[in-house]
Order: sequence, then C-alpha cells, then structure tokens
Amino acid sequence: MAEDLLIQKGTKKEQYQSLIPQVRALLTGEDDFIANLGNITASLKEQFNWLWIGFYIVKNDELVLGPFQGPIACTRIRKGRGVCGTSWEKAETLIVADVERFPGHIACSSRARSEIVIPVMVDGNVVAVLDADSDELSAFDETDEKYLKEIIDLVDFE
Ligand code: SME
Repeated sequence: MAEDLLIQKGTKKEQYQSLIPQVRALLTGEDDFIANLGNITASLKEQFNWLWIGFYIVKNDELVLGPFQGPIACTRIRKGRGVCGTSWEKAETLIVADVERFPGHIACSSRARSEIVIPVMVDGNVVAVLDADSDELSAFDETDEKYLKEIIDLVDFE
C-alpha cells in the first residue's frame, strides 16, 4: 500500500481524477467497510482540505456518525433533520451554497458555510450519507456530486 497520497493541484476535476485511482488502490484487497470509509475520508481531507468530511450510517432509523475527518460532530441525526437527515428522507443529493439559508441546518461547527450531502443507496434504500462541509460559501457543485458518487461506488456497503 502506498504510504503517501499524491496531492494534485489544478481544477476540481483534475484533483478528483488524480485522487480516485489512488483511493481505488487503497481499497483493493481490503473488504472491511469501516477501514475503507476511514481511508476515503482521510484521502478526501488531504486532497481538498475541507472543514469536515465524513459518513453517517443508518442504524435503527437514525443516522449515526461514522468515519470522518475534521472537528468533532453530532453523533445522531433523525430522518428529516438538517441537511443530512433531509438528504436521507428524500434519497437525493443536496448541495447547499449557504448553510445559513437552509432551514434546520445542524451547525456542528460554526465555521461551516456550505455543504454537500450524498445518499448511499443499496437496493433502493439509503444506508448511509456522505457529508462534506466547507468553511467557504458555494464550495460544492455537480462536479463534486459526480466524483464523490464514483468514490462511494468503490465501497461495498452491503
Ligand atoms: N451540517 C449537517 C450536520 C452534520 S455536520 O455538519 C458534521 C446537517 O445539517 O445535516
């Protein structure tokens, strides 16, 4: 296994295109779900240096904090609450340019300004969400959605 991640400069697309093969290599031969989610969050944090990146996993009808990088975070989120709970309820990606304009946003960190949440689907059900938070406004767009989905697809969530 590579010891260090090669950090790419350039456009967002170039950064993801450099990162994704490295993440794929990191996950190859490892089937432990938590280990893989841990390395995914660490890789994304290193490449993009977002404020917070992590997974919430559906357990007993709540989202429970999973592997993440960044400041300490809320441990449990109910369906329909905040950006994560709304993404889960609607089973759709939410890109929030300004979290202060999202009614019910859960401010785990007062430094968070914008956010993307992508649901992880297995057999039509949301089993987890991937949440990225930035301390800059409008940090996320459809490019992040496309490539973060590709990264999610590298993991076996079943
Ligand atoms: N901002 C999220 C809560 C999770 S933290 O940001 C890590 C939300 O409103 O769902």
